[in-house]
Amino acid sequence: MQRPCRILTLFGTRPEAIKLFPLVHALEADPRFVSRVCVSGQHRDLLDQVLAIAGLAPDHDLDLMKPGQSLDALTAALLMGLGQVMDAEKPDWIVVQGDTATAMAGAIAAYYRKIPVCHVEAGLRSGNIHHPWPEEVNRKIIGTLAALHCAPTDTAARALRNECVDPGAIHVTGNTVIDALHWITARIAEKPELAAGLADLERRFSGRRIIGVTSHRRENLGEGMERIAAAIRMLAVQEDLAIIFPLHLNPDVRSVMTDRLAGLDNVALIEPLDYPHFARLLDICHLMLTDSGGVQEEAPALGKPVLVMRETTERPESVAAGTARLVGTDPDRIVTEASRLLYDGAAYARMALAHNPFGDGKSAPRIVELLASV
Ligand code: UD1
Ligand code: UDP
Repeated sequence: MQRPCRILTLFGTRPEAIKLFPLVHALEADPRFVSRVCVSGQHRDLLDQVLAIAGLAPDHDLDLMKPGQSLDALTAALLMGLGQVMDAEKPDWIVVQGDTATAMAGAIAAYYRKIPVCHVEAGLRSGNIHHPWPEEVNRKIIGTLAALHCAPTDTAARALRNECVDPGAIHVTGNTVIDALHWITARIAEKPELAAGLADLERRFSGRRIIGVTSHRRENLGEGMERIAAAIRMLAVQEDLAIIFPLHLNPDVRSVMTDRLAGLDNVALIEPLDYPHFARLLDICHLMLTDSGGVQEEAPALGKPVLVMRETTERPESVAAGTARLVGTDPDRIVTEASRLLYDGAAYARMALAHNPFGDGKSAPRIVELLASV
């Protein structure tokens, strides 16, 4: 009998954990594989929230998060720590997702050991190495090293072919974020108390339309955050609206938002929501205002328009499909675009009813079959 294939899945931040837990679940359930998980702990609390809800117990935890650490210190620690885990585990394949420091350092450490890399969510490109920063470069590095490229869409696959990646190594799988969203929605349907913690806010804001907000991008830190806060203050003047804003744990996000927005009656600045509660926020909101990547994919799957507070997006599919609009961080522009969606029913319907381009929720089993066939 053939020996099972040893897969070591690496991740460290909240979005990677959300997008990889469906794949880890699928690998664990499949006797063709031995699945091992290493978390870098690049994020601590945000990562642990996802591990808990997904029922994942990592085999290795490097616990690398240090408040305010530089990208070079983080990357150096990741390269050493992830390399040591690879030496101990001797996997046949490494799996990384997206474009974080953990994913990039994991791919390089694997390359140094000649271990093939499977890249989940391959081929996203904004075409600008400063937006998002440093993620555009991280994913280009991973794209150069990977042996198996799981592109979420045809657009992403085309971007890889344009960079002369071997077409035989590129597969369009959809995005595992939709698998995760289906999984969590089913869990909440079975057990509504998993997402009942917003009930007080829902009562407080009853009768008002809710705008959900998230923001954390490094290229928006500083001036961008100030402009986003100004836009929220301007929107909050409209008393028929309420804003629910789970704050990222990055202190550079929290300080600006709490300074500028605390005390407004219809703005709730709250702690990061665990995944079921965030899914509930997506469900109850009228629209999302965000600079997040994952939220651009999830909100359209639930029929919620997204205004993207960034200058470029590596997810042009959502803009082309009409589910998202790029609005940057100019406060007047954000307020104009949000008001259009709030007060023009036809404009809202066009975005809410547009088709979600990111997959059918079966990406993880597709990736498992690819790993079984290589
Ligand atoms: C990282 C990823 C980014 C991803 C984002 C998701 C890189 C280069 N960037 O950016 O692609 O979109 O995660 O959120 O990898 N913090 C905590 N507790 C936590 C998490 C963060 O206190 O659980 C604070 C720490 O002070 C930390 C800071 O937030 O130093 C920033 O976290 P870090 O992972 O370095 O970068 P992100 O900007 O979150
Ligand atoms: N998310 C969450 N709680 C929150 C905010 C976001 O669970 O309070 C989830 C969201 O559902 C999405 C992911 O976190 O799947 C996005 O993470 P983030 O915006 O931090 O990173 P990005 O997607 O931009 O890399």
